[in-house]
Amino acid sequence: MKHDPLELVVQDIAEEMAQALDRGRVADYIPDLASVSSDHFGIAIVDMEGRSFVAGDAQMQFSVQSITKVFALTMALGAVGDGLWKRVGREPSGSAFNSIVQLEWEQGIPRNPFINAGAIVVSDILLASHEPSAVIAEFLRFMRMLTGDDTIVIDEQVARSECETGNRNVALASYMRAFGNIHHPVEKTLGVYFNQCSLSMNCHQLALAGRFLMAGGINPDTGLSVVTPGRARRILALMMTCGHYDGSGEFAFRVGLPGKSGVGGGILAIVPHVASIAVWSPGLNERGNSQLGTLALERLVQRTGWSVF
Ligand code: DON
Repeated sequence: MKHDPLELVVQDIAEEMAQALDRGRVADYIPDLASVSSDHFGIAIVDMEGRSFVAGDAQMQFSVQSITKVFALTMALGAVGDGLWKRVGREPSGSAFNSIVQLEWEQGIPRNPFINAGAIVVSDILLASHEPSAVIAEFLRFMRMLTGDDTIVIDEQVARSECETGNRNVALASYMRAFGNIHHPVEKTLGVYFNQCSLSMNCHQLALAGRFLMAGGINPDTGLSVVTPGRARRILALMMTCGHYDGSGEFAFRVGLPGKSGVGGGILAIVPHVASIAVWSPGLNERGNSQLGTLALERLVQRTGWSVF
């Protein structure tokens, strides 16, 4: 099958998205996210040859939010290896990202590392015997290494906002601590989690950060291994099955790529051995995943044949 050149594809998609009427609803449970206009749309693709294709608001910073769970998981697996899976499951939850109900039935072991409960356990693992500020500094170094971009920062105002409104996360962490699956004081563990979620990046930076997952675990800038090929494959499997919470089946059905969404409206999607893609549009669908981001990825795979299925 003959496919269109990518620069044309991203331009067309950005134009189509600019005209979309149903743009979803911007998250309003964190004040700093509520003030972002749903008019935005950005897309960036970085391929195995190192070429970048960007369109729309691809250079505009947004709150990366839950997409950071992929990178925190990568770091935690590097720190403790597969022992991590004693504390976090690997099954889709079928529940909302911030749901608490399964924790009682499953003795404080979250279903997967991408729902909030699972990501909070990952934060607790990263904390080890360090202070939250040291863990976040290490996390930032990791993100800067993956992108080759030292300008990446945490948005401290978003972090404060997360902390002030994060009662559900406090409940999740406290409940898991009661089961012995959070080993540090809840404020410290959440200090890592809230700051991590408040990472600010643009689509191009996010697509660059995802390259190691595209490239079988290798950082293309350095040729060095970030994770083994087997671990990269497993992270991608979790993104496919759990990356969009209770919308993961729908995302696999429509897009057919491993992907991770964030409540800031970003999605990172990986075409193994082909491309790392980031899209951003702040309006969310009823499952809390970017409405136009999903539509854009659906159109992209239609035009490129990139679905893994
Ligand atoms: O835990 C929270 O409330 C957020 N800071 C992270 C949530 C997130 O991005 C989930 N959704 N897609």
